[in-house]
Amino acid sequence: MDLRDEVKSRMEQTHRLAQKYYDSGDIARARVEYIRCAGLAQQMSTISPPGQNPDYTTMSNKYKEIAEGLKENNIKVYTSGIKPAEQVAQTNGNGDSQRDAKKAEQLIMVEKPTTKFSDIAGLDQVKEDIKEAIVYPFKYPDEYRYFGVKPGGGILLYGPPGCGKTTLARAAAGECDVAFINLKVSDIKDKYVGESEKNIRDVFDTARSRGRAIIFFDEIDSLAGERSQSSEGHEKSLVSELLVQMNGLAENKDSVLLVLAATNRPWDVDVALRRAGRFDSTIFIPNPDFPARKNLFEISLNAKPLSPTVNLDALAKETNGYASSEIIDICQRAAKIPLRERIKKNQPRRQIDTPDFTVVLAKYHSMLPSWYIHAVNEIKQMSQEDIDLFRELIQASKEYAVNIPK
Ligand SMILES: Nc1ncnc2c1ncn2[C@@H]1O[C@H](COP(=O)(O)OP(=O)(O)OP(=O)(O)O)[C@@H](O)[C@H]1O
Ligand SMILES: [Mg+2]
Repeated sequence: MDLRDEVKSRMEQTHRLAQKYYDSGDIARARVEYIRCAGLAQQMSTISPPGQNPDYTTMSNKYKEIAEGLKENNIKVYTSGIKPAEQVAQTNGNGDSQRDAKKAEQLIMVEKPTTKFSDIAGLDQVKEDIKEAIVYPFKYPDEYRYFGVKPGGGILLYGPPGCGKTTLARAAAGECDVAFINLKVSDIKDKYVGESEKNIRDVFDTARSRGRAIIFFDEIDSLAGERSQSSEGHEKSLVSELLVQMNGLAENKDSVLLVLAATNRPWDVDVALRRAGRFDSTIFIPNPDFPARKNLFEISLNAKPLSPTVNLDALAKETNGYASSEIIDICQRAAKIPLRERIKKNQPRRQIDTPDFTVVLAKYHSMLPSWYIHAVNEIKQMSQEDIDLFRELIQASKEYAVNIPK
C-alpha cells in the first residue's frame, strides 16, 4: 500500500469511528476523532497531486468545523453516507428554514426526461402495464370509473443490470405528461437521522400537489441493503414510512401517483416491500430476446456508417444472453476500429464491417452469466413465497445453465 492509500484508509477508519461515537451519543470522543480526521485530511492534501478531487484542504477545514460545531453543540452530523463538504455547507449558519427549503428542492428534482418508449427495444408488456397505470386513466377516465379500476399504484422492476429498468422509468415519464420525481434512495438517506421519514412524506406530498406524477425509486435495494451498517431502527422506520405512503396511494382521489421502483438486487429489497400487495406488480425486466437484440443493433447503428453486408440477424443471434447495454457497447467498440485506423494510421474512411464485430465479439464477455449465478444463489435461500415471486428470473437463468433451486 502506498502512503496515500494508507493515510486515506486511516482517515476513513477514523471517520467511521467518529460517526460511531456520534451515533452512540459520545460527542466528546466523536469530536476527538473528527479532529484526527482533519489532521489526516491535511496530510492527504500535502501528499496528493495539485487539483486532486476531493480537495483535501477543504475537507480538512470541514472536519475542523464539525469538531468545533460539536464543541459548541450547534451542529448535527449525518450518520450515513457522510459528505463533509455538503454537510457543512448545509449546517453553516444559514438558518433552519432556508436549509429545509434547500433540502426539499435538492431532494425533489422534478424533471421531464425526453426518452420515449420507442427508444427502448422490447419490453412491450411492461410498457403497456405502465400505460395502464398512468396514461390511459387520463385518456379514458370514464372507462376507468365505470369499471372501477384504480389508476396509479406501484410497480417494482427487477432484473439483470443494463437491461433497461432505469431507462424504462425515464421513458415512462417522457411518454406521459406527468411530473417525474427521480429519487436515489441515498438522496433520502443522506439527510439528518430522523428526518428521512419526513423526506419521504415531502416527496409524496409534492407528487400529490402535482396532480399526477411518477415517483421513481432507483436502486430501491439500498433502502434495506445497508441495514447492517447503520442503525436498524432508522432503516425500519424508513421502510414503514414508504409502506404507509404506498398504502395511501389508492385512497387519494385527487391525484394519480405511480410509484416505480427498480433493482438488480431484488433479494436485498426489504421483505415488507417485496411481498405481494405492496407493489401492485413486480415485473421482471429480462435480458433482450432476439427481436429486441436486433432492434438494439438497429438503434445503435442507425447513425453510423454501416456496410450493407453486415448481417444484423446473425449479430443478434450471436449475442444471445447479453445485456442491452452490452450490445450498445459492442456497436460502439466496433465503430472505434475504423475510427482508429483513420485517425492513427491515416487510412481512408471506411464503413463498419462484419470483421469489426468479429474482433469485438471474440474478446467480449457478458456480465450476465455471473449475475444470474449470484441471483439464483441468493434466491435459493429465500422462503418459497419469495422464490415464487422471482420465478421469471429463475426461468431466465436456465438459459445460462445455472443450477435451479427447488
Ligand atoms: N431495452 C433497451 N432498449 C434500449 N436501450 C437500452 C435498453 N436497455 C438498456 N438500454 C441502454 O443501456 C444503458 C443501461 O440501461 P439502464 O440504465 O436502463 O439499465 P438498468 O436495468 O437500470 O441497469 P442497472 O440494474 O445496472 O441499474 C442505458 O444507456 C440504456 O440506454
Ligand atoms: Mg438502473
